[in-house]
Amino acid sequence: MRLSACHNFHDFRELARRRLPGPIFNYIDGGADDEVTYRRNTASFERCDLVPGVLRGVASVDLSVTVMGQKLAVPFYCSPTALQRLFHHQGERAVAAAAAKYETMFGVSSLGTVGLEELRAAHSTPQMYQFYFHRDRGLNRAMLQRARDAGVEVMMLTVDSITGGNRERDLRTGFSIPFRLTLGGMLQFALKPMWGLNYVTHERFSLPQLDKHVDMGGDTMSIGRYFTEMLDPSMNWSDVAEMVRDWNGQFCLKGVMSVEDAKRAAEIGCTGVVLSNHGGRQLDGSRSAFDQLAEIVDAVGDRLDVMMDGGIQRGTHVLKALSLGAKAVGIGRYYLFPLAAAGQPGVERALGHLRTEIERGMKLMGCGSIGQLSRDNLRFR
Ligand code: LAC
Repeated sequence: MRLSACHNFHDFRELARRRLPGPIFNYIDGGADDEVTYRRNTASFERCDLVPGVLRGVASVDLSVTVMGQKLAVPFYCSPTALQRLFHHQGERAVAAAAAKYETMFGVSSLGTVGLEELRAAHSTPQMYQFYFHRDRGLNRAMLQRARDAGVEVMMLTVDSITGGNRERDLRTGFSIPFRLTLGGMLQFALKPMWGLNYVTHERFSLPQLDKHVDMGGDTMSIGRYFTEMLDPSMNWSDVAEMVRDWNGQFCLKGVMSVEDAKRAAEIGCTGVVLSNHGGRQLDGSRSAFDQLAEIVDAVGDRLDVMMDGGIQRGTHVLKALSLGAKAVGIGRYYLFPLAAAGQPGVERALGHLRTEIERGMKLMGCGSIGQLSRDNLRFR
């Protein structure tokens, strides 16, 4: 299977599955517990139908949006995700370059494998920095200052990972960073020698956002252990209010799901919320962001920007979220599988597909700009 044979999310996922050692593929692909929420994220789009308009004169279509003060040429952005150089040696460099090509925003994770300063210097497209709130308050302040110095436009605090989700696929393979694997997991690596060759012949794996501050040492650390041991479970609204004041710029919370929390986010001065269940990787059984979207837009949409992520596999999924009132949507696995499958050309091809699908969908919906999408375009079953 070649890159040119990849026409959608499923094709890229399949190509990634063939190229990646099993433990790494399953780390990206997996969710928590029974993966009910993971499946529901995409399924929830399918319970909602589009009602197109016709004869509206759609010779040209404008896909641009403004979200968190940033003008994006397309209504989606690349959400921050961890460990990208593990999936392909180009890692974040490939994703940032592809995002820049499509003139959209990209996120850099606290658990990213390329430094935020390097990425900031390489591209002028807006950058969001994904922040985890650590037990060490000094570390939190230093990380905020570092992002400010680098010129990051949007601060994004993840609030759904106060402890690690139960990712049983990772428990089975022994996936952790750096690697410690079960025997079966190691065999999986032996089956993918090309991945191994690439991995060992490129820059050594590191976590430059954390290396200076956290001793991940020679010891191995599972993502679950990082969340549980390093992050501060006592984090509360007044801690975040202080952080928002300190940042004094575009600030969003990722992982807000209730109306009450969205209202509190607005009260403490957040400029955005991202409805998210972390791709079904944290609290299994939690509702999909898409199913919560209307309620939250109605409650706070006039006070801050409401975004969402989770389960986006098609342009029409993006159109449905925008019709309900999301200002933009985040994609994660949608670009990670192409990254793993083919590096930068893979990510570019996937983002190109999404843009084409959205543009085609807009024409078929009779909408010339994103602002013309509305709830009149939707019916729930
Ligand atoms: C994960 C974290 C690191 O879902 O975002 O694995």
